[in-house]
Amino acid sequence: MIINIKLFKKNVPFVYYLIDICRNVVYILLKYIYTPQKVTIMGIRIAGTGRCIPEKILTNDDLEKMVDTSDEWIVTRTGIKERHIAEADQTTSDLAAEAAKKALENAGITADMLDLIIVSTITPDHIFPCTAALVQRKIGAGKCPCFDTSAACSGLLYAFNVAYGMMSSPLAYKRVLVIGAEKMTSLVDWTDRSTCVLFGDGAAAFILENDGNPETPDFYVAGEVAADGNAADILIVPASGSAHPASLTTVAEKMHYIKMGGPKTFQLAVLSMVSACRNVLEKAGLTPDDVVWAIPHQANRRIIDAVANKLGIPEKVYLNVDRYGNTSSASIGICLDELHRAGKIKRGDLILAASFGAGLTWAAMLIRW
Ligand code: ACO
Repeated sequence: MIINIKLFKKNVPFVYYLIDICRNVVYILLKYIYTPQKVTIMGIRIAGTGRCIPEKILTNDDLEKMVDTSDEWIVTRTGIKERHIAEADQTTSDLAAEAAKKALENAGITADMLDLIIVSTITPDHIFPCTAALVQRKIGAGKCPCFDTSAACSGLLYAFNVAYGMMSSPLAYKRVLVIGAEKMTSLVDWTDRSTCVLFGDGAAAFILENDGNPETPDFYVAGEVAADGNAADILIVPASGSAHPASLTTVAEKMHYIKMGGPKTFQLAVLSMVSACRNVLEKAGLTPDDVVWAIPHQANRRIIDAVANKLGIPEKVYLNVDRYGNTSSASIGICLDELHRAGKIKRGDLILAASFGAGLTWAAMLIRW
């Protein structure tokens, strides 16, 4: 009971009744004026998608001329046939902005309508400013907040989680641009055959929109994001950050390039993605049969096959690793955009996405289209 005015009694002075009334009025005002607004999630959906793939293609035959490798080794060990390479003067923010423009057009909105821009990348144009701010400038968005997330190949799914959280919290952002963009070839040592055959460049962008319609189901059905910093050293670019700022030594010792314990990464990738997918399906009360498409991070065909077989969904897996190689943060996004634009997904379809990467980080997410 909010109001508790005492009944008038003969021997109680009137001033006490007055105090009691004032106390209750203040209580009511505080309750209705200062109670935080309840946030109602009303239809946060993926309203538009876009991708940017650099034109230049580097084939396995090209790589045979650069390092001691063969098309046969690369295809059987990774499933990769070719990858796209950005031009020397083409930056991550260029790829991101191009993908963003296509996503805006696909969503039927203009850049000035965006409330927030998040770019997932491990190959930012600069240590600072953030790539998202450069994208804001390149697409002509307003003065909305901009920041980058860094979770390597799991980055896009991490960014979706952050965006969804900020849209469904009291912050209540309405239209958010989420991008996964990478110029992985800027981190590749072209003399190291164990890594240079794996990576490619690209970007994918998404417009997340709260359309205010309670009939529209949220795109975010269930998710899991996780990391194990104990395994941080098996996949690393040792220099460029505060641990080893650029010096003659870091350059001479090639510390600005990707160093990877391939077999260990392979093993952890399979374990983490399978368990994350199972957890997410369980959280949603669904089974693999409910899923229309499974999109694992496109790092290696053998990793994808192992995950798909353990989950019992090989026929639902979407693959493009043969054409792009590992584009890190952009990988799952490029798959989603390809499926969407090819008309292979319809509203309501459930898509299970899973990824892993340096950190080690991993994530799985059940998306309702
Ligand atoms: N061509 C020919 N031979 C090669 C090549 C190549 N390009 N690369 C390595 N080899 C050789 C090795 O030197 C080794 O030779 P040796 O036996 O004489 O020493 C042999 O092939 C086997 O090497 P492995 O590393 O054991 O090969 P593996 O079958 O594990 O495949 C690979 C390597 C493809 C890297 C695999 O381990 C893999 O895909 N790992 C996961 C990588 C990944 O997905 N990373 C994603 C995250 S990226 C991020 O987060 C930024």
